[in-house]
Amino acid sequence: MTGVLIRNARPYGEDSPVDVRLGDGQILEIGPDLAANDSEEVIEADGQVLLPGFVDLHTHLREPGREDTETIDSGSAAAALGGYTAVFAMANTNPVADSVVVTDYVWRRGQEVGLVDVHPVGAVTVGLAGKQLAEMGTMAAGIAGVRMFSDDGHCVDDPLLMRRALEYASSLGVLIAQHAEEPRLTVGAVAHEGPNAARLGLSGWPRAAEESIVARDAILARDAGSRVHICHASTAGTVELLIWAKSQGISITAEVTPHHLLLDDSRLATYDAVNKVNPPLREASDAAALRKALADGTIDCVATDHAPHAEQEKCCEFASARPGMLGLETALSIVVETMVKPGLLDWRGVARVLSERPAEIVGLDDHGRPVAVGEPANLVLVDPDTTWTVRGPELASISNNTPYEAMTLPGTVTATFLRGRVTARSGKVRKRV
Ligand code: DOR
Ligand code: ZN
Repeated sequence: MTGVLIRNARPYGEDSPVDVRLGDGQILEIGPDLAANDSEEVIEADGQVLLPGFVDLHTHLREPGREDTETIDSGSAAAALGGYTAVFAMANTNPVADSVVVTDYVWRRGQEVGLVDVHPVGAVTVGLAGKQLAEMGTMAAGIAGVRMFSDDGHCVDDPLLMRRALEYASSLGVLIAQHAEEPRLTVGAVAHEGPNAARLGLSGWPRAAEESIVARDAILARDAGSRVHICHASTAGTVELLIWAKSQGISITAEVTPHHLLLDDSRLATYDAVNKVNPPLREASDAAALRKALADGTIDCVATDHAPHAEQEKCCEFASARPGMLGLETALSIVVETMVKPGLLDWRGVARVLSERPAEIVGLDDHGRPVAVGEPANLVLVDPDTTWTVRGPELASISNNTPYEAMTLPGTVTATFLRGRVTARSGKVRKRV
């Protein structure tokens, strides 16, 4: 089979169904009643929604170093099943992705696996230690062509170093993504600082730790004339700061995670560390503000912060558990639940927040493109009318730490296409033959 004919798909969920022919990595033809030729695989879409493949700016794939929890192979499979065609793999691996040796390895391994384009994120500072800038220019010039840098997991908290990083990034034409957490305000913190944490005896991570860095970095980006991206925005105050910064013409963008859109700190009552994440689950009013901000474009996109952890790192005392939760295979369904069902986004909006804006933010020119003839065939087919029940052990990730265990969620990814090749179909990964 050398090509694919998708029958009766609805691009962006809007138009009446059309047939879409894929071949040579591109969308070759769109029209009514296209005839299949012998060398094509035919996929009956039955009116399902066709969107550009999703782009995740924030994924932890754990390779190299923690292959017991995720690998580029298993994480790529999870991504393809979630409808992703490109993911950005964070630098907090072991060794840290602070050199071209590691970033080129991650890119090459992703291409070998071939299920999704794995773009390595380079570290901003050597060893994520926040002391000395990493060689961003060398990583940007490597095979991987690193275009995004982040110390995620850690904040670049030294303002002078952050200023230099923004200046350097601006001259290289790359993006700095900040994990906004003033570390002096979160020493020992394990949960959102508020009535729930107080009642449960958990030490609090105040909103101010995030917001003070967002405000500072907006001002640093303004003065450096450079762009800054805020990882996993989690508070209503961050939304206010983004509104202000954007109104000043500052080049600031932001992402929100599916879990911060849906969940809040009432989940902590069981002390189940599956709910421990950094930044922490906030209050219901924060989640509502984040949903509104995503709908109106104040927050640019959804990024998963997919963070696999081993059972022994999660099934333990809350304070000692590692922060983070799985996200790649459930992101679309959580966006449908929180944004589409309440009428905050239509399918064009879903394409914007899961595909087009993230691709634009990092300057990918082959993902997040229109569903149109001549464009790269990086696509996802979504059945909006079916539900599925999340079971950790059934996910493609090596780890099981999903906060949505046993939840029945709306929206199913039925096929993902990378350069015209089917990478996932009806819950099964399709490896290259
Ligand atoms: O919850 C989190 N987990 N937040 C981060 O910033 C890092 C991540 C991880 O690497 O596990
Ligand atoms: Zn982070």
